[in-house]
Amino acid sequence: MSKWVQGTVVGIRHWTDRLFSLQVAAPEVTFVAGQFARLALPAPPGAKEEMLGRPYSFANAPDTAPHEFYVITVPGGPLTPRLAALAPGDPVWLLARANGFFSIGEVPAADVLWCLATGTGLGPFLSILRTAEPWEKYARIVLVHAVRQADELTYRDTIGEIAATHAGAFTYIPVVSREAHPEALRGRIPELIADGRLEARAGIALSAENSQVMLCGNPAMVEDTQKVLMARGMRKHRRKEPGHITAETYW
Ligand SMILES: Cc1cc2nc3c(=O)[nH]c(=O)nc-3n(C[C@H](O)[C@H](O)[C@H](O)COP(=O)(O)OP(=O)(O)OC[C@H]3O[C@@H](n4cnc5c(N)ncnc54)[C@H](O)[C@@H]3O)c2cc1C
Ligand SMILES: NC(=O)c1ccc[n+]([C@@H]2O[C@H](COP(=O)([O-])OP(=O)(O)OC[C@H]3O[C@@H](n4cnc5c(N)ncnc54)[C@H](OP(=O)(O)O)[C@@H]3O)[C@@H](O)[C@H]2O)c1
Repeated sequence: MSKWVQGTVVGIRHWTDRLFSLQVAAPEVTFVAGQFARLALPAPPGAKEEMLGRPYSFANAPDTAPHEFYVITVPGGPLTPRLAALAPGDPVWLLARANGFFSIGEVPAADVLWCLATGTGLGPFLSILRTAEPWEKYARIVLVHAVRQADELTYRDTIGEIAATHAGAFTYIPVVSREAHPEALRGRIPELIADGRLEARAGIALSAENSQVMLCGNPAMVEDTQKVLMARGMRKHRRKEPGHITAETYW
């Protein structure tokens, strides 16, 4: 287990029967906002590897402790039901080094940054938006959290704090696909962009001229949203070929 750092669970918050946030003390593990850790527990007997690990985005800001991960339990999944059953004081293992390029330093400057998340894809944006960098780089930031049911619109207090700290620069737009909710747009992100409802709610245009877009979560959402954005003349961002779309898919 030499490459793994042993951390300690210091808190777990269950938001719904499937969604939870895990707080882990592991001060030697550092990261850039938007990056992911690898969380692990000992593998079941007979497994090839000693540890069973999966990537999870840091949801806390880099200069804060403990580390926090926003996770959905996948029924029958090898790791998530075990993570959901952890309690304060339990050990959990992390790779010493964080990974990933889903961070503001990798995204070009623009007037507007659109942060579009489904489900637990909200996590890295909570980290990013609690650092100073995006607010220095973009005049306006829109955070869209798209979920199936309204009770999955989590982290409202944290989002409220971000809104209070950056009043005038920040817009939060909840989206619920499977029920009506008074504050939320109804539907899916790609359709809401295509029919103009997302821009209407934000009061800002989404174009290649003024915007950068970060997408995180469900790979089908990422793919479908990219198609809609490409139809507007936006391109995937690459270091060697700058564009407008930066994405992280969770499976
Ligand atoms: C870069 C990266 C960062 C990630 N960050 C997070 C995170 O912050 N929070 C988180 O919950 N997961 C995250 N994931 C997914 C995570 O690594 C695991 O795949 C997931 O927790 C399921 O683990 P499992 O062993 O229980 O089941 P697995 O066998 O790994 O997955 C089974 C199936 O569950 C579904 N699934 C997996 N993850 C999700 C998800 N997040 N939301 C909805 N459906 C899912 C997919 O259909 C997948 O095929 C991330 C994945 C990647 C690649
Ligand atoms: N009780 C349970 O055991 C239970 C219940 C629900 C889900 N699950 C499992 O949990 C997992 C994740 O659930 P989740 O709700 O966090 O994530 P999700 O399935 O990714 O849904 C989150 C949001 O993404 C939307 N979405 C899905 N495909 C999209 C696409 N192509 N383009 C744009 N938006 C899209 C969904 O809309 P739509 O609603 O229109 O799809 C929903 O609003 C799934 O793998 C599912 O099998 C388990």
